[in-house]
Amino acid sequence: MTSQDLKTQFFKYFQSKNHKIIGSASLLPDNDPTALFTTAGMHPLVPYLMGEKHPEGSRLVSVQKCLRTGDIEEVGDTIHHTFFEMLGNWSLGDYFKKEAIAFSWEFLTEVLKLEKEKLAVSVFGGNSDVPHYDSESEKYWLEIGIAKDRIARISDNWWGPAGNSGPCGPDTEMFYWTGQGQAPDKFDPDDSNWVEIWNDVLMEYNKTQGNRFEKLQQQNVDTGMGLERTLAVLNGLSDNYQTELFLPIIAKLEELSDQKYQADQRSFRIIADHIRSAVFILGDEKGIAPSNKDQGYVLRRLIRRAIRFGKKLGIAKNFCQELAKVIVDNYHKSYPELGQNKNFILTELEKEENKFRQTLEKGLREFAKQKTIDGKVAFMLFSTYGFPLEMTEELATENNIKINKEEFYAEFKKHQELSRTASAGRFKGGLADDNYNTKRHHSSSHLLLEALKIVLGREVSQKGSNITQERVRFDFSWPEKLTPEQIKQVEDIVNEQIKKSLPVHFEEMSLDKAKEIGATGVFDHKYGDKVKVYFMGSFSKEICGGPHVDNTSELGHFKIIKEESSSAGVRRIKAILG
Ligand code: ALA
Repeated sequence: MTSQDLKTQFFKYFQSKNHKIIGSASLLPDNDPTALFTTAGMHPLVPYLMGEKHPEGSRLVSVQKCLRTGDIEEVGDTIHHTFFEMLGNWSLGDYFKKEAIAFSWEFLTEVLKLEKEKLAVSVFGGNSDVPHYDSESEKYWLEIGIAKDRIARISDNWWGPAGNSGPCGPDTEMFYWTGQGQAPDKFDPDDSNWVEIWNDVLMEYNKTQGNRFEKLQQQNVDTGMGLERTLAVLNGLSDNYQTELFLPIIAKLEELSDQKYQADQRSFRIIADHIRSAVFILGDEKGIAPSNKDQGYVLRRLIRRAIRFGKKLGIAKNFCQELAKVIVDNYHKSYPELGQNKNFILTELEKEENKFRQTLEKGLREFAKQKTIDGKVAFMLFSTYGFPLEMTEELATENNIKINKEEFYAEFKKHQELSRTASAGRFKGGLADDNYNTKRHHSSSHLLLEALKIVLGREVSQKGSNITQERVRFDFSWPEKLTPEQIKQVEDIVNEQIKKSLPVHFEEMSLDKAKEIGATGVFDHKYGDKVKVYFMGSFSKEICGGPHVDNTSELGHFKIIKEESSSAGVRRIKAILG
């Protein structure tokens, strides 16, 4: 059976039970500050599970793109993935336990024709929040014909909420025996020959912000069947990476590394998994590029980890793009966004790989010199060589190098605080964020200060600024209201410098040197030993942390929209760029 067959069968079956097909939502969730990625099919449906009416009705079916990084350490075995596709059917206050269980059973045994003798299930066993076991689901399974010994009561059988609060509930899970010969009569959930293939969540609770479990206004069903896993089971494969979803990637990797999959399955799987995830994040309808924060940093870590394992396989040249092409080919029919964003996917992968390969080699040499990894070394590998922390940790484990975890995390925490302060410092200068338009306005503020000094006198000094994507707010020392002529002169000077297309660059120098060359800055304030001086042609020299545009021509047209008093002896200008 192919993945497309499985999807089609799933859709057809649930359509015959009056479900409406809905498309996959983006991997990057809307309106959920508590989750970076869409982790399950129910994630985009939360409002409807809470009671809002869905335009397609109360029975839905979908295949959802999902990404989970919680299990990333398990990736490398036969069944774990970061990105995966999840098949699911929903009842939004429509049917509940009885029908959900009947549908699942019928689909597994009549449509997919799985052997009944190889199926087992688990039901919720009760926990401290909801202390009773799910006797109802157990009853329905018994009625359907599952033997009592094939039903396990498990207190962990609880799913959700997707973020910190929201819909959740007990679940009942279905397992298939993948071991040799007949399945044992008694179901042992800890025996890995029993593979979980489907999860029906009986969603009737809402976890409140205050950690209480309240009954929802409606009883919902949310099911999740992992495509990769089920496909492997249906094809009698004990390794998801041997399904058609991965085979072309593995084959390409064999070619690129000149090694066989059997030689190092773990590395092959990690690379295949991570690059597939990277392709889906980059190629998402809301795709993002690698960066140092949030989803962009998850993406960066996935790519870098794959590159590190590629190096382990002995691949000497860039390979991410080559794999990505295979992945896009394999998936673009189901996910047209991958085809549409192919250029972006390939370019970003290439950029990231070029960047990381420049430091990876040197970083690994540095690493090899260490006998133990203390916090300082981990920090050095992180900041100088771009090694995500878990990469250093993983390298240490692989090489039997002792790692001082406590210090390691302490240093990381210190670093995080430092970088927070540093970026706050950088933006405290008045920048709201590091958006390109903010940068443009920031650069215009340097021209503005110099223009004010020319028009009003060198004694003018900056008293503060606040810069956003939309405007500059700039405070400076001056005792009285500016005349319209002065305002016009200042504007003209700034616009003249913009027209001159002055190159912008910075140089690092000692504070004394900065003074000597006549850079503008607040010299009584304690700077470090070295400062950055930004030059805009020879018109402006100013001590500043940046960031700035590369050329003043990027600023467009400068206009002062307001001039007013800020406090005694301080005037405030608001200006925009057209
Ligand atoms: N939301 C459930 C899961 O992800 C179905 O397993």
